[in-house]
Amino acid sequence: MKLLFGGAAGSFANGFWIEPSRLSVTRREISCPRLPAALDGLRVGVMADIHFKPDQDEALLEEAVATLNREKPDLIALPGDFMDEDPAVIAPMLDLLKKLAPAHGVFASMGNHDGWAFGGAGMRQRFEKAGISFLINRNHGIRVRNENLVIAATDHIWLGKPDPAATLRGITAKTPVIALVHEPDYFDELTEWRNIQLQLSGHTHGGQCRVPFVDYTPAKVAYGRKYIQGAFQRGDSRLFVTRGVGTVGLRVRFACPPEVAVLTLRAAV
Ligand SMILES: [Fe+2]
Repeated sequence: MKLLFGGAAGSFANGFWIEPSRLSVTRREISCPRLPAALDGLRVGVMADIHFKPDQDEALLEEAVATLNREKPDLIALPGDFMDEDPAVIAPMLDLLKKLAPAHGVFASMGNHDGWAFGGAGMRQRFEKAGISFLINRNHGIRVRNENLVIAATDHIWLGKPDPAATLRGITAKTPVIALVHEPDYFDELTEWRNIQLQLSGHTHGGQCRVPFVDYTPAKVAYGRKYIQGAFQRGDSRLFVTRGVGTVGLRVRFACPPEVAVLTLRAAV
C-alpha cells in the first residue's frame, strides 16, 4: 500500500513539477523519396506549441532555442501555437526566438490559439520584424546547395481559412516542398492537392499525458486525432508531428516530455 501510494505521489510530482520543464531532443532521419539528391542530409529543426507563459516557461524556451542553435540545422520550422490567449507574450517570446540562427532561415505559421487570440496580420507583422518569415497560405522559395526548396504554410485549420491552392501557388512540379501545417490531420487533404515531400505539424502535444509503454494517449484534439506524434507517410509524402514545447490547460506532462526535433532528410538512393 505504501509502495502504491509512493508511486502515485511520485508520478504526480513528476507530471506537474518535473516533466513539463524536461526538454528532450529528437533526432531522426526521414526518407523523402522525391527529394533531389543534392538535398540529401538537409537538417530541419522543428519547434511547435510554445504556448508561452513568461512566468513559467522562460528557462524552457531559452533552453529550446540554445539546443536548436547547437544542433546547427539548415533551417528551422515553427508550426504554430505560440500563445494561449494573451498576445502580450509575443514580445518577450520573440526576444528569445530571434536568437535562432540557422543558415537558411526561420519559418513560422499560424496555430489555432494564435488565430483565436490575435489573428494573422498581427502575428505576421511582429514575427517578420523579428526576422522570422511568417507564412499564411503562401510560400517562400530559398536556394540551398544550389537547389530550389520551397517552404509553404497554410492558415490554421481549426476555424482558420486554409487555402491549399494559394499555399502551393506558383511552385513547379519538380520543386521540393516542406509545408508547415499546425494541425496534423490536414496531411491527408494536403497530399490530395500535391504530393509534398514533408509536412511539419504540432497541435497535439503528443497528448501531453501518455500511458507509458503502450504508446497511447486518451487526450485527442480536433484535427489531431489520427496523427498524434512522430513520423507518418502517405504515398511519397511524409509527415512529422512534434510533441511541442509548452502545455495548454494544466501545466502537466506525463510520459510525453517537451520536444524540439532535428530531422535529417534523406533522398532516395
Ligand atoms: Fe494547436
